[in-house]
Amino acid sequence: MLLLPHFLGSLAVVKAYVWPSPMLDALEAARWNQDGHNSALLATFIKPCNSDLVEGTNSGRADVADWVRTAYHDMATHNVADGTGGLDASIRFLEETSRSENPGTGFNNTLSEVRVVNDRYVSIADSLAVGTIIAIENCGGPEIAFRGGRIDAREPNTPGVPEPQQDLDSHIAAFARQGFTQTEMIKLVACGHSFGGVEHAPFPEIVPEINDPNNTLSVAHFDTTFTHFDNDVATEYMSGTTQNPLVVGSNDTTNSDKRIFGSDGNVTMKSFADSPELFASTCADMFARMLDTVPRGVELTEVITPLPVKPHNLILRLAGDTLKLAGEVRFWNMTADAQRTVFMLLDDHTGGTRNVTLTSSGVSTAVSGRYSAAWYTFAPRPSNALTFLSLDAIAGIKSLRFVVDHGKLEDQGGVGFAVQDGVVFSETSCYTSQHPPYKWRLDVAVRNGLDPSRVFLVQLGAEDSVERQIIVETDIPRPTQPIAANANYSIWSIEMTDDNSYFVGAEVDGVKFSGNDASGAADLSPCAV
Ligand code: HEM
Ligand SMILES: *[C@@H]1O[C@H](CO)[C@@H](O)[C@H](O)[C@H]1NC(C)=O
Ligand SMILES: *[C@@H]1O[C@H](CO)[C@@H](O)[C@H](O)[C@H]1NC(C)=O
Ligand SMILES: *[C@@H]1O[C@H](CO)[C@@H](O)[C@H](O)[C@H]1NC(C)=O
Ligand SMILES: *[C@@H]1O[C@H](CO)[C@@H](O)[C@H](O)[C@H]1NC(C)=O
Ligand SMILES: *[C@@H]1O[C@H](CO)[C@@H](O)[C@H](O)[C@H]1NC(C)=O
Ligand SMILES: *[C@@H]1O[C@H](CO)[C@@H](O)[C@H](O)[C@H]1NC(C)=O
Ligand SMILES: *[C@@H]1O[C@H](CO)[C@@H](O)[C@H](O)[C@H]1NC(C)=O
Repeated sequence: MLLLPHFLGSLAVVKAYVWPSPMLDALEAARWNQDGHNSALLATFIKPCNSDLVEGTNSGRADVADWVRTAYHDMATHNVADGTGGLDASIRFLEETSRSENPGTGFNNTLSEVRVVNDRYVSIADSLAVGTIIAIENCGGPEIAFRGGRIDAREPNTPGVPEPQQDLDSHIAAFARQGFTQTEMIKLVACGHSFGGVEHAPFPEIVPEINDPNNTLSVAHFDTTFTHFDNDVATEYMSGTTQNPLVVGSNDTTNSDKRIFGSDGNVTMKSFADSPELFASTCADMFARMLDTVPRGVELTEVITPLPVKPHNLILRLAGDTLKLAGEVRFWNMTADAQRTVFMLLDDHTGGTRNVTLTSSGVSTAVSGRYSAAWYTFAPRPSNALTFLSLDAIAGIKSLRFVVDHGKLEDQGGVGFAVQDGVVFSETSCYTSQHPPYKWRLDVAVRNGLDPSRVFLVQLGAEDSVERQIIVETDIPRPTQPIAANANYSIWSIEMTDDNSYFVGAEVDGVKFSGNDASGAADLSPCAV
């Protein structure tokens, strides 16, 4: 959370962002739509907290611990002096996961979950960060500030993850290189080692085989609550009852937690044992610092807080004289209420306003139910199919406003929620062949007077050779003779011969935008012959 000194309160108006802002909208959704309606994918990987999707139940491991360790090992290559390394998803390179400093299957497990997120606005590194936050928060941990904007590394980073057999001075030096003081090292290790433990297979010298059907991978846990965030790692350490294999391991050489935790005479660990609240708030800061340690030159966004009112997945299509609009709106900090009324005001290009009653479409929650949000759809959905409001294409649409329970007008401080109807998918798009060799035509309706410098297609889910999300644009040639769709739209067409899906986009006065409506051969109707 961004905290301002209170005397600045009346001067500084801190705005997270104004909708629409595609990248922030996507990051906000990944961060806050955790469970229930329209939930983002990441939260599904850590429920319940003792689940281990890859290793199976009773493995002794838990996905939540893998997320935290993967994020740390990805960050731990950072070098404050030269600005290299940091949270940049370089851990996805085989060269890094093959290093002796990165043993075990946990990195692959987490990355297989991270990779499911395939969003043109969210990097793999941002998914790793937000997944780690969601994992911690939903397994008893504190709320952690999330900033987006991480950039995926092109290549592996220099080695630099600490290992248990190294001495205290090496660890102090390694954390200093990563940007953390000795005290911060104690804090970060204690916070991380609130989850999980040491597994026999990668560390046979530290952990023997346990032969427990409830712990099939023989994992010696750092504390008795290894799937849950709490200060047990500190209380058990201070009381001398700890079974932490990096404290009470039989070979003192690999007792790195013992050396680290005791390195300030136990002052930090005692404070954690004495106060679960201090432990939680300290770990919220330290985890955020860990995730925000990025290579020099990467600029992170402001902390992404939930938008109070947020339109979601607006889709506009032109069908003759009708502009079809689908979408939903999310009201944060609201529970379901059958009596509630929600009106949406649609302002068009002629100065007219239409007033539509919205229908409840679901509820979502975040941070283990600490927050809830109510969703309303622009047009009722009898099934999962998209349903549209029909608007007059001549009048078009400029922006949206909302009124809940006849209360205050929700219009983003007067600017409204801008909707771009200048370049939209046209339902005259059609296919000749939906199978190889593919042949289809994508028609884009361009509003007269918009005068775009370019109209283009954006490929869905494109990646470069090292899996980085990229936005591939294919220009649609400007028609020599405008083909009128109606009095206010002209059609630009492009013949396609592949099986990808595409969004439509345009550039106007140097500003690019693109829609949410992805189409490919499989989505279209046959062309008239
Ligand atoms: C000197 C620093 C550190 C050393 C030597 C160290 C060492 C280890 C070792 C040997 C394991 C066992 C891994 C396995 O069995 O596959 C482990 C697990 C783990 N470490 Fe660390 N660690 C350090 C710092 C950190 C930090 C700073 C964090 C995060 C903030 C962290 C988070 C974790 C987690 C969550 C696990 C459990 C993984 C699981 O159960 O799958 N560690 N650590
Ligand atoms: C991780 O996955 C890669 C292939 O994606 C594989 O080559 C490698 O052996 C895996 N590592 C572990 C430790 O399982
Ligand atoms: C495994 O867990 C079950 C259920 O929690 C418990 O009843 C059983 O005693 C455990 N077995 C072992 C060997 O600890
Ligand atoms: C203790 O661990 C270190 C580092 O792994 C190893 O070199 C040494 O041989 C071990 N000592 C014993 C007695 O096993
Ligand atoms: C820290 O506390 C533990 C547990 O009480 C104790 O065994 C250890 O000697 C203490 N270390 C220091 C440096 O005081
Ligand atoms: C959430 O809504 C409740 C009830 O409307 C209100 O009392 C509370 O202040 C709101 N909380 C936030 C953080 O906006
Ligand atoms: C929208 O319509 C509802 C009822 O249909 C009405 O109560 C409300 O005042 C209208 N809102 C505006 C701003 O016109
Ligand atoms: C529609 O197009 C006509 C010209 O074809 C133009 O005069 C009119 O202003 C346009 N209407 C709107 C609402 O943009």
